[in-house]
Formats: sequence, C-alpha cells, structure tokens
Amino acid sequence: MDQDALKRLCAEAALAFVEDDMMVGVGTGSTVNHFIAALAARRGRVAGTVSSSEASAARLREAGIPVMDLNATGGCDVYVDGADEVTEHLAMTKGGGGALTREKIVAQASRKFVCIADASKLVPVLGRFPLPVEVIPMARSLVAREIVRLGGRPVWREGVVTDNGNAILDVHGLVITDPAALESDLNQLPGVVTNGLFARRPADVLLLGTPQGVRRIDRAVTRPSQ
Ligand code: 5RP
Repeated sequence: MDQDALKRLCAEAALAFVEDDMMVGVGTGSTVNHFIAALAARRGRVAGTVSSSEASAARLREAGIPVMDLNATGGCDVYVDGADEVTEHLAMTKGGGGALTREKIVAQASRKFVCIADASKLVPVLGRFPLPVEVIPMARSLVAREIVRLGGRPVWREGVVTDNGNAILDVHGLVITDPAALESDLNQLPGVVTNGLFARRPADVLLLGTPQGVRRIDRAVTRPSQ
C-alpha cells in the first residue's frame, strides 16, 4: 500500500467517530481531503462543520456539506485532522499546510480530537519535521532572531501568506523533548501568532494507517493523585 492509500485508510476509519447531528471540526491537508470525501456520504446527517482553512471549507462546500462560522456554534463534538509528526503521547507538529492557527483554534473548541495519519508520521521525538511558526509580518525578522537564540534555524516560507494574512517561519534543527514547554515559550515571543506544536491540547485518539490496517492509540488520561 502506498502512503496515499494509508492516508485514505485512516481517514475513512475516522468516520466511526462522527454521529448523526454532530458538529464536526475539519482540518486541512491531503489526509483530511480523504476524510472530506468520506464525510460526503453523511451529508445531511451532520449538524454542520467548522473548517480550519479556506481550502477545506471550499472542498466541504463542493461536497454539499454545510460549513459554519465557529462563533455560531457551541464548539465541535469532534475534530478530525492530520499531523506532520505525532508521538505515542499524541503530541503533534502541525502546520505543514500553513493552517496551524485555525487548526489550533478548532482543536481547542472541540470535545474530541481524532488525529489521522499514515504510519510514517509516528516518531519517538518531535523535531525532524521543521516546526511551523505563524508570525505577524512586521515581526518576522525579530521572531527569527529570537528563535535562533532558542537553538532553532528558522527559514521563511517565502511567498506564503496564511488565511490570516501572516507569514510562516519553518524552524529546523530542533529536538523537541518537552513539546508543551517549547509551545509555551514560543507563544511568549511578541509577533508570534501560533506555533505548530500541539502538546497543550494534544489529540485524544490517533488513527494510524499502517500496511496491517488501522492502529488506534488513545491518549492516556492522567488522574490527579488522591
Ligand atoms: C496542515 C496540517 C496537516 O494536518 C499536516 O500538514 C498533514 O498534512 P497531510 O495530511 O497532507 O500529510 O497541519 O496545516
């Protein structure tokens, strides 16, 4: 099975998390495109969708699936999205497609986050995939210098403007052993809108497309000690 077939496999498996009348958050990327195609068979049965990008919104509308403004909903019952890298703890790097800010908003507004990814995305430690950081355009160089101080090698994704009108820096050379701490540190830099680490709000379930079938990993819930 090639990588695209593995993406389709896990995307179709995510339909099991979509029940009638649910508000469904929809992410961005080639794996999610398979999910949108599968969701088209349920059009008319979901309450609506909230999209993390203009690209996915256009695809959803083409498929006859209603797209709502997040503000007009009480949040989403489930959010389905891909990842560029994901760990067994379900922390992720996202934003390869540039939609990280809206993805993080929809993820935060959703009761369950189902990550769909082919097996190549599962890694022991995040960092091999360059970490996307969305920045206010006037702060691009300032943020880049601060990131160098933190040990990263930022590269401007030239020519790319996000759906929010901002720029993206892809940060190379990081070994991210504490993704939640780095996520917070980067968010403190003036000019940073969002970074592509999803550790403070990780996925709840990972559906991994493997040649042997879909492997499901649930996030371990830590209970407060008694
Ligand atoms: C877009 C994302 C995507 O989820 C990520 O890039 C994975 O993409 P694909 O499904 O095409 O491999 O974060 O901003």
